[in-house]
Amino acid sequence: MTRAPRRPDALRDSPRVREAAAALIEAVAEESAEAALSEPAYARALKELGRLRGRPLFFPMLQAGTGRGARVRLADGREVLDFIGGIGVYGFGHSDPDLLTTAVVAAAQDTVFQGHLQPGLEVLRLSRLLVKHAGPRLRHVWLSVSGAMANENALKMILQKHAPADRLVVFEGGFAGRTITLSEVTDRPAFREGLPLRGNVLHVPFFDPAVPNATEQSVRALRAHLSRYPGQVAGMLFELVQGEGGFRTAPPSFFRALMETCREAGVAVWVDEVQTFARTGELYAYRTFELEDLVDLATVGKTLQGSAVLFHKAYNPKAGLVAGTYAGATTGMAVGARILERLESEGYLGAEGRVALLGGRVGRRFDALAKRLPRAVGARSGIGAMQAFVPFGGDAETATAVIRAAYDEGLLVFGAGRDPMKVRMLLPVNTTDEELESGFALLERALVRVAEERGLPC
Ligand SMILES: Cc1ncc(COP(=O)(O)O)c(C=O)c1O
Repeated sequence: MTRAPRRPDALRDSPRVREAAAALIEAVAEESAEAALSEPAYARALKELGRLRGRPLFFPMLQAGTGRGARVRLADGREVLDFIGGIGVYGFGHSDPDLLTTAVVAAAQDTVFQGHLQPGLEVLRLSRLLVKHAGPRLRHVWLSVSGAMANENALKMILQKHAPADRLVVFEGGFAGRTITLSEVTDRPAFREGLPLRGNVLHVPFFDPAVPNATEQSVRALRAHLSRYPGQVAGMLFELVQGEGGFRTAPPSFFRALMETCREAGVAVWVDEVQTFARTGELYAYRTFELEDLVDLATVGKTLQGSAVLFHKAYNPKAGLVAGTYAGATTGMAVGARILERLESEGYLGAEGRVALLGGRVGRRFDALAKRLPRAVGARSGIGAMQAFVPFGGDAETATAVIRAAYDEGLLVFGAGRDPMKVRMLLPVNTTDEELESGFALLERALVRVAEERGLPC
């Protein structure tokens, strides 16, 4: 009797392969634990990188060696708590043993990258998993490498289907990426300084809890655009929790009212989930907010370790519109697929899932900190594994000082939004209580230090 051939995608589960991968991971961990740049060499390396980039890094840091959970080791041997995760990329923190094994096995296969002409099984597995969670309307997916590329693909699909309509409605304060087109879609003048503009982006106010009738106001603004440009609006872009815009969100009814208006007008509903992906409770925030009946396209990235656009069949583009060399790195796609499997199998998803519970655990710590430092810890916003607060009233200079002071104390957090500027955290979904405890102690020290240095009440 001939033995059935092993399924190639079961490779990473083979005991022999896992054992070999574990040996390599252990050897690297052991060797890198010993390795560190001396203080002058580290300073030189930072200076050199700054020179090569043309300007210094925001944080004077170079990662190196192995990390552990939310902790990452720097090239000088120092360890810092990482509550920003490469701006939302390290969903399971650092050196997660299972993800490392997955990556090592994937890396030991043939190619570093896979493309749309010659995809491998990782492309199939990742596509299948993304669609599995996407709800009944979005049955197709196109992989790419960065959030911006996924957004470009989504926008092209919308424009092709709705041609000659070429206008896009977006929220004030939104961020969509760094291509020329997306720099215009993004509502930050500084991010498009000197770039040519096409002038076809229309703005609608985002939800403001302080404004009575905020939903009616935004719907009215959308209707005004639709009637001012009849037949010319192709789609509307939704960021259900604004990331760069300051972790602002809205009740589902706000988004539903706008999406239904789009639907009535025959305008595409596109949700940018690049930052929210896997962080709001469900894999897709539009499912956390129960909007899946209205979404035509969704883009994802960051925690995925690559990017993708999911789309309704009506938006399937004609051949030639979306392609590009890369679908993704073999390791990125293998690890991304594993992350999706684990989010599901280890209880991270759902209203009572570990991501939603993490939001509560972080919230309780913010509340305790705000009691001790009421002037330093202002309004909190966010959901699940994306959380932010307004420090000292939120002027940009003071907020930046808090972020820098936190780094000096050994905690990585980052800014978001303007007027007020917030301090944001994109936490690993598996952040432990000990990590939260340590992180908030470091944050408290940073806030007290900034208060002392600037003579602010805290
Ligand atoms: C909502 C949103 N869309 C798009 C992007 C662009 O993703 P990338 O930087 O991978 O191109 C980002 C990145 O921060 C984002 O937050």
